[in-house]
Amino acid sequence: MNQTITPSAGDVELCAQETLDTSRWTSKRRDFLRMLGYGAGAATLGPMLAACGSSNAQSTSEALRAQLVQDAGFWSGVQGMFVLNLAKTFMNIGTAGSMPSTVLDVFATQNRAKAVDCLNGYSNLLDLRKAAAPGFGVDADELAFSANTSSGMCHAILGIDWAPGDVVVTTNHEHGGGDTPLKIATDRYGIEVSRIAMPVGNNQTAATYVSLFDERIRALKAQGKRVRAMMWSSPTYKTGTMLPIADLMTVVKAHQLISIVDGAHLPGMMAYNYGDLGMDFMSGAGHKWQCGPGSTGILIVRNKIRASNPLPLPKWFPIHTSSYSQLERTTNGTETYDIAATITSCGSVHTPMFMSLVQACKMWDEIGRKKIETYDITLASYLKEKVAERWGVDALYSPKDDPKLLSALTSFNPFQNKADVMNSQKSSSFVARLAAEYPQGFVIRNSNFPVIGAAAEHYGVRVSTHLWHDATDVDLLVEAMWDLSKKMA
Ligand SMILES: Cc1ncc(COP(=O)(O)O)c(C=O)c1O
Repeated sequence: MNQTITPSAGDVELCAQETLDTSRWTSKRRDFLRMLGYGAGAATLGPMLAACGSSNAQSTSEALRAQLVQDAGFWSGVQGMFVLNLAKTFMNIGTAGSMPSTVLDVFATQNRAKAVDCLNGYSNLLDLRKAAAPGFGVDADELAFSANTSSGMCHAILGIDWAPGDVVVTTNHEHGGGDTPLKIATDRYGIEVSRIAMPVGNNQTAATYVSLFDERIRALKAQGKRVRAMMWSSPTYKTGTMLPIADLMTVVKAHQLISIVDGAHLPGMMAYNYGDLGMDFMSGAGHKWQCGPGSTGILIVRNKIRASNPLPLPKWFPIHTSSYSQLERTTNGTETYDIAATITSCGSVHTPMFMSLVQACKMWDEIGRKKIETYDITLASYLKEKVAERWGVDALYSPKDDPKLLSALTSFNPFQNKADVMNSQKSSSFVARLAAEYPQGFVIRNSNFPVIGAAAEHYGVRVSTHLWHDATDVDLLVEAMWDLSKKMA
């Protein structure tokens, strides 16, 4: 539990050396594994060795599995850094992550130090922002700490100098974290919100989103509307579809709009360089995939002109601060003031929380953000392929074939009778029974969303795959979900 090993990228295990370390598992977990024909040692090696070979008959899921187990030694070292209850398999990181032991240690030590020396939190946390910013491809003045994604979305949306009639184009799969400030801005400033109906499933590409947003904006403009901003989730929490930021930024720039990304799931999942992406605001959680403490968020704000986005910086006022700069925003590559300091500092903040968040960021930087992204997405792709093999590709709400639309969230219809997915009680019961009736205690969630052409909302189930999972967790989950879907048919 208290391991502090830091695997290096050089720890890559050869495929044929793979063994599954089940020593930390409960006996019930091991029994279930045996029942499925897996187990440490020879039984485990069979399918993996087959997948590692150059077999022409290898399916996509087998190839993905082979890729995953190549690095199993490295990832089991990473798994040892968490204090997770092994009687459960936590696959709802999209709602809540878990602090690794080194992060808990920083939190405990700094909490005590604060108490011992009666320390205050009047600070804009510049040193911490400086430490975290390079991992996100920005400077310290472009990375603010917020209370969470919702708080970041409030900072972004409610700070803009809206005028009555300004239109924000967004989707019908947004989270309340972004929708709530949009509603406030509607009532308070008279903005209008135009929602694009989201496609679901595998039959979509990044180009689909470029067309959807571009066509909607053109249609609104043709009606004489003043489109001012685009706001979208990457990925959406409902289907895990990664709306392609770089592609959507071409629409933003073509129509000279303000760009606001609800990136709740991005920090800790994707290795994005936000300086290169160039959106005005990206609000992410610190407490989900980044595995920092609760009540932490990362808000990236464009604060200078970079090549990635030559548009003027939008006029913006702080709505929650103790530090108000009345300077105009810059028109060139040098900031006129530290906007992230303005956002971060509001009275006395609980500094140990942000010290711990930055400890988690350091851990991610050390492991390699790209390595984590690749692992998370490969695990999720493996799951998506297995779902498609068992339930049929049409069961997926998350796309699987366009790499630009992939995230580590996987959403699908688990029911044998496809219409059952419109039954909210049945969907909730599926989630509850998966946790209660299977020895791994799988923790997943469901979410409801409109589907184009459907008679009622769908209640798909959603699985998060992260760095403490491995291919065997996915195998066991799929077996359990398949078994449960037959029991509930
Ligand atoms: C897309 C999206 N936006 C916002 C939120 C709210 O996150 P937070 O609790 O960090 O405010 C969530 C939470 O799951 C989410 O999935």
